[in-house]
Amino acid sequence: MTQSPLANAAANPVTDGLPRVAYARGSYLFDVDGKRYLDGSGGPAVYCLGHAHFEVNEALRIQNEKVAHAYRYHFTSDASDELQAIITDRTGGHFRHMVFVTSGSEAVESCMKIALQYHAACGQMSRRRFISRRRSWHGNTLGALSVSDFKSRREAYEGSLLDVSFVSAANAYRPPAGVSADQLIPYLAQELEDEILRVGPENVAAFIFEPVVGAAGGVVPAPEGYAKAVQAVCKRYGVLMIGDEVMCGSGRTGTWRALEQDSIVPDIMSIAKGLAGGYVPLGAALYSDEIHEAMVAAHGGVQTGHTFTGHTTACAAGVAVQTIITRDRLLDHVLARGARLQRDLRSALSDVPEVGDIRGRGYFIGLEIVADAKTRKPFDAGLMVHADIGQRALEAGLICYPCAGNVGGIAGDTIILAPPYNATEETLGEILTMLTKAIKDSIFAMKKLAAAA
Ligand SMILES: Cc1ncc(COP(=O)(O)O)c(C=O)c1O
Repeated sequence: MTQSPLANAAANPVTDGLPRVAYARGSYLFDVDGKRYLDGSGGPAVYCLGHAHFEVNEALRIQNEKVAHAYRYHFTSDASDELQAIITDRTGGHFRHMVFVTSGSEAVESCMKIALQYHAACGQMSRRRFISRRRSWHGNTLGALSVSDFKSRREAYEGSLLDVSFVSAANAYRPPAGVSADQLIPYLAQELEDEILRVGPENVAAFIFEPVVGAAGGVVPAPEGYAKAVQAVCKRYGVLMIGDEVMCGSGRTGTWRALEQDSIVPDIMSIAKGLAGGYVPLGAALYSDEIHEAMVAAHGGVQTGHTFTGHTTACAAGVAVQTIITRDRLLDHVLARGARLQRDLRSALSDVPEVGDIRGRGYFIGLEIVADAKTRKPFDAGLMVHADIGQRALEAGLICYPCAGNVGGIAGDTIILAPPYNATEETLGEILTMLTKAIKDSIFAMKKLAAAA
């Protein structure tokens, strides 16, 4: 009998002990032992149409049978042109130019390169520096990692990352010390301006930020008015604004662009996760007409891209996913049901003061767990409360996205929910029940532990 190749698999401390997936349908995954898991976070906020959607799989099959990948320097394709037209339409006509890539990190990396190329095209070669924010995550390639403030993910690479400026996070629940709620936006705008002036506007390429922070903060929407205020500062000094919507974009917050709700359009924008809903890896860097025209005039066009840029089947998946989202008016559900889910979570957890904050937009919801609701002091990092909640939820059959380090990089416990846009009311009800129980059980266990100590 031939031995299964699985028998030769090396031990892997990261994945050993995880359930082995067998198949998935809609909002549910099943492991090889037949256990069912409700995908309450769409993996890491990716699976916006759930799993195994018949029409998306059909679109993949049809495209693969025609041609899976025609190289971008040899051919254009209907799939790639259609997806570009869809993205232009969904962004209100603001983004007609884009580079397709295969991940969020590559999308951010491309955005950074486009900013640099634009300044080079304008003869401003000194504009090389990026400004980012504390408690942010932009990806794992070296450039994207350089603009990310995620301690545990950066540590091994310190010393070879780009020299980047970091300004404060725009977090109303955790404002900079001594800054009151009504002073928060002017404070943050001034801080950005001060940093631009400190390094010299002629040296600054772009300011990059997540309109709704994902894993690094546990879903943190910037306060109303923030995006407009920082955009005004950027414009004043010729600094490009990059909106990283890898996680919060493609409809996750109930509008196709998260920044639509802030009434601004950045110069450059990254998207990925929900673009093709995880059916295939796909992301994109989008940029304005002005940037396009400058690059065409100076260099003949954009100078970044990869072998798999515009991968034909990936684009076909993107077309299918985005067509279904629009046809089935799923963003209406995301807006209405997302707000209701937040309300229901607040009411179900109102007797748990350790749930310090419940926030988010649409189907992008974060719960922050604290040891003391008054002072907002986090639990001791060693207790790994986020992981404990995640594990209890998983054992009960719910996948959520537990995150650590939103307070100063190490402490802090948050849980992210990001259900598929087509999740039913019943499914959302199940998420509510299972997560509430996991949180209550975990807090009860933590208190018992503290009492015994
Ligand atoms: C806001 C943001 N940008 C970039 C990335 C990197 O995307 P990827 O993991 O697909 O490379 C992520 C991933 O979580 C993200 O949340």
